[in-house]
Amino acid sequence: MRSLLFVPADGGRKLDKAMASGADAVIVDLEDSIVPERKSDARRSAADFLRDAMQEHRRPRLIARVNGLATGLIDADLDAIVPAAPDAIMLPKTEGGGHVVHVDAKLLAREATAGLEAGSIKIVAIATETATALFLGGTFLGLTWGAEDLSAELGAQATHDADGRLLDVYRLARAVCLAGAAAAQVQAIDTVAVDFRDLAALRRVTDEARRDGFTGKMAIHPAQVAVINEVFTPTPEQIAEARAVIAAFEASPGKGTIGIDGVMHDRPHLERAKRLLARTTEPEPAGSMQRLR
Ligand code: COA
Ligand code: MG
Repeated sequence: MRSLLFVPADGGRKLDKAMASGADAVIVDLEDSIVPERKSDARRSAADFLRDAMQEHRRPRLIARVNGLATGLIDADLDAIVPAAPDAIMLPKTEGGGHVVHVDAKLLAREATAGLEAGSIKIVAIATETATALFLGGTFLGLTWGAEDLSAELGAQATHDADGRLLDVYRLARAVCLAGAAAAQVQAIDTVAVDFRDLAALRRVTDEARRDGFTGKMAIHPAQVAVINEVFTPTPEQIAEARAVIAAFEASPGKGTIGIDGVMHDRPHLERAKRLLARTTEPEPAGSMQRLR
């Protein structure tokens, strides 16, 4: 999934717009974009929308963002959402793999009741939204990261410096997400850019995210989708280069290190080339979302 567009679950027309936005996934939000007194209406609206949207022939992946484990709201969220059988839930404020195990158990019970296959609804965790979560980053399953909630918990007044660069603690959160995703062999998904009118800034941070190993990014506005899709779609030059690297290794069987155009290439280069090509043939890398077993 290159682009994942958030839409509030009570968004009305926005839900249909999100479906037509070109995003690889639509995230129907029951968490921060829904005020407490509208949660139960929003659950109903999310379930109705998901049930219909799942039937569409050509559709984006459908993900429901539920409320975090500490809120006491997640059980009612899952009761409403699971019968609609979305592709995945997004779990905010995840504190390590323990939270994922807990939510996996909640899903299993409801999948059985709804007649769904065990493990059919995947979990995408937001891994860095609390200070505690940062210390548990290595225990993850599959993930993305967030700065806004973490800054609220830290009592910070900003997430970026005057030049628009992420401050240290959020760079740490971002790095924890990248390394945690690699350790769990799941897709690393970059966080949202909240300034949705500044597409030049979006392109810059998305380029940086791709450079660093993210393979997708969340969006909050349809205007962001095309930029994100473009950045995460391998270019013909990148594909040609990857094919050349693979061909060079195939031409030298038994060799771990070879020179191509004056540059040493070894196993990591070969792996990178293979992963890039895999992204051109599959809608998403294998195992980008997974359940525990
Ligand atoms: N999904 C689908 N459609 C969206 C959208 C979204 N995330 N964000 C905006 N649109 C639609 C608007 O409804 C509007 O449609 P219209 O022209 O038919 O009226 C059009 O795109 C242009 O919207 P615009 O005026 O530029 O933005 P806005 O001020 O209406 O909305 C936000 C701004 C931030 C409120 C909106 O983008 C949004 O709701 N984003 C998602 C928020 C969210 O889910 N946050 C939680 C995760 S961090
Ligand atoms: Mg949040």
